[in-house]
Amino acid sequence: MPKMNKVVMFYFFFSFFIATGSLLCSASGDVRKVYIVYMGSLSSQPEYSPTSHHLSMLQEALDDSGFDQDSVLIASYKRSFNGFAANLTNTEAQKLASMEGVVSVFPSRTLHLQTTRSWDFMGLDESAATQTPPGAASDVIIGVLDSGIWPESESFRDEGFGPPPKKWKGICSGGVGFKCNNKIIGARGYKSSGPNVRDTKGHGTHTASTAAGNRVKDISFYGLAKGTARGGLPSARVAAYKVCNHGCESSDVLLGFDDAIADGVDIITISLGGQGATNLVSDEIAIGSFHAMEKGILTVHSAGNTGPFSGTVTSVAPWLLSVAASSTDRQIIDKVVLGNGKTIIGSSVNTFTFNGRKFPLIRGADASTVCSEDSARMCEADCLNSTLVKGKIVLCERTGGVSASRDNGAVGTILLSRTPDNIPFIRSAPATSLTPNDYNLVQSYTAYTKNPTAEILSSDVIKDSAAPAVASFSSRGPNTVMPDIMKPDISAPGVDILAAFSPVAAPTSDPKDNRRVKYSISSGTSMACPHVAGAAAYIKAFHPDWSPSVIKSALMTTAWPMNASKNPDGEFAYGAGHMNPKKAIHPGLVYDAYREDYIKLLCSAGYGEQEISKLTRDNNISCPSGSEKKSRTTDFNYPSMTVKVEPRTAFQVGFHRTVTNVGPSGSTYKAKIMSNPRLRVKVEPRVLSFDSSNKKKSFRVTIAGRGLRDKTMVTASLVWSDGIHSVRSPIIAYA
Ligand SMILES: *[C@@H]1O[C@H](CO)[C@@H](O)[C@H](O)[C@H]1NC(C)=O
Ligand SMILES: *[C@@H]1O[C@H](CO)[C@@H](O)[C@H](O)[C@H]1NC(C)=O
Ligand SMILES: *[C@@H]1O[C@H](CO)[C@@H](O)[C@H](O)[C@H]1NC(C)=O
Ligand SMILES: *[C@@H]1O[C@H](CO)[C@@H](O)[C@H](O)[C@H]1NC(C)=O
Repeated sequence: MPKMNKVVMFYFFFSFFIATGSLLCSASGDVRKVYIVYMGSLSSQPEYSPTSHHLSMLQEALDDSGFDQDSVLIASYKRSFNGFAANLTNTEAQKLASMEGVVSVFPSRTLHLQTTRSWDFMGLDESAATQTPPGAASDVIIGVLDSGIWPESESFRDEGFGPPPKKWKGICSGGVGFKCNNKIIGARGYKSSGPNVRDTKGHGTHTASTAAGNRVKDISFYGLAKGTARGGLPSARVAAYKVCNHGCESSDVLLGFDDAIADGVDIITISLGGQGATNLVSDEIAIGSFHAMEKGILTVHSAGNTGPFSGTVTSVAPWLLSVAASSTDRQIIDKVVLGNGKTIIGSSVNTFTFNGRKFPLIRGADASTVCSEDSARMCEADCLNSTLVKGKIVLCERTGGVSASRDNGAVGTILLSRTPDNIPFIRSAPATSLTPNDYNLVQSYTAYTKNPTAEILSSDVIKDSAAPAVASFSSRGPNTVMPDIMKPDISAPGVDILAAFSPVAAPTSDPKDNRRVKYSISSGTSMACPHVAGAAAYIKAFHPDWSPSVIKSALMTTAWPMNASKNPDGEFAYGAGHMNPKKAIHPGLVYDAYREDYIKLLCSAGYGEQEISKLTRDNNISCPSGSEKKSRTTDFNYPSMTVKVEPRTAFQVGFHRTVTNVGPSGSTYKAKIMSNPRLRVKVEPRVLSFDSSNKKKSFRVTIAGRGLRDKTMVTASLVWSDGIHSVRSPIIAYA
């Protein structure tokens, strides 16, 4: 073997390294992906053309890459705010970020519908829903940003509806075979979601009918949860913006906002989101809803389904109404009867029946000849031996066991629940889910009995006296982006909700689920969100001139207090509490906030003047600084008072607030504090007298406490009461 000089060898390695390195570098630089270039509010100059501006910026950024600007432009936002989406390299994106007028450049991402696909139905009682002022109620338009809609559903028939309200500027562009009517007055589809707005997922139909569906009698899911299905405001109109198909591209989500705002909707409901909370200037939903707020449109948004872990809420912008999901008193259960006669109450939405027959039981751990015991207990794919499980009921420790057992010839599955609330989900084959105690009991019975057998019954409905409790999947606060703004804001039904569905979609995500239904049950903050959107529309029907923040305040301050002993995360699980729409029509006092207040809040939260100026296209923004008294985020006029404090450090914090009397003149409100021994709360003044309607009064709340242990919270509440109205705000200090 020829001797090789060490120096030469080193050189070889070195040059190899360099070559590979630069190759990788330029390769990754060349990869194009979709970026959103956000440019804030639209210029009001009449000669300004957003699209030509976007194209000239692109031309400059593309330089001599060989691509032309038309081929990389994905979307132009030009109706309600300014910006575009384009297929760019990292270098081009950076170039654009430094151009004048650009607020932020961030990669488009795929957001997801926040359903867990399985749920019940609740809202206003029927008489209340029909007592809305005539005319006004059918003028309310709800924009639904979702997976489209099934236009022929009974929930969207237009009998009794007149032509669309005059303010409506939208179009019906639903694609081939899609017809709007006087109930569904608008439809738009987008690039990645496809031009046909017809819903093939079921999610968009479900959320739209929860917010605004007609009253439809005798609806059930295979006889379960039977009753009348209806939305929060059945007389409202619906405009469907199909921004999701398999996922929801954020470049399309922004187009949905751009259109919905310009089309003239009153309320936007959006049940989708990302995996983590982000800075507000690169958060598509925060950006879209900011411009909606500027135009007087409230955006209602699902909190997320990544609970029960702390700080998981992804709906964080202060102008959003962010909704947690809770249970209703209608609980769906599913019993198992063992061969020894013992009945165990499990949880699932199970439409299948064994007709009184019992089948042999086998544990997943005993049903595999190829896998480790751990994998076999989970009934992981390819573990179950079909000779062993055929015709039996299999015990599996994970949800995927349902299809794995069915695919191997089993007749049913008994699952181990991994969440304390054991939410009943729809299963694609006979199955129930048991608490760890009950599961162990069935395991022991199976292991120590000769010929163990069981029957899985089809589901029943019982009354749940513990409701409402926040679902384990519902994302929790605190707000990781704006720590002094409470999130979620409110809780609404989000477990086992029955609503209209797409008749071409299966009620579960199992591709072998051949069931097709017009009404289905789903669970998720996705389902809670349109309940609140429906309630907001209901309030809008009574008070067409109320601003988004006033409607939000009305809903939050009249919410039912929820029980922290059942919801260990307290306000970080349920916000102000469980929504109570009937009361929210007459809240007495409201905490309002407008564009300028949000801008001040952004200043105090540390967003730069330039960033804010661009967001708002207001060159005049100057955040108070230095000698001027800097406002604090705790002084922002939110309907709750939240502060993040240093752990193990005594604290004293003030909250400045202003309330507006929307009740009768001549009312006098007294402050009541529901306190906590660990928090001293002072309100000044303690009495507010209003000699007329629409008068404003300010007050100050000061809280003080000894140091809090890290990751703990202490809460109280303030209630302003005039003997008729109770205006309640949670007070939260956390470390
Ligand atoms: C972006 O461009 C690349 C080629 O450079 C292409 O493969 C990709 O499909 C484009 N993406 C979109 C969304 O147009
Ligand atoms: C399945 O189990 C049966 C009975 O124990 C056995 O004969 C057969 O080999 C197993 N099949 C596989 C693929 O392991
Ligand atoms: C909260 O729940 C606990 C335990 O279930 C109960 O003792 C308490 O009375 C409840 N509190 C309220 C305000 O309902
Ligand atoms: C800038 O702000 C000042 C004071 O608030 C106001 O008088 C002026 O009209 C504003 N200018 C513009 C261009 O908005």
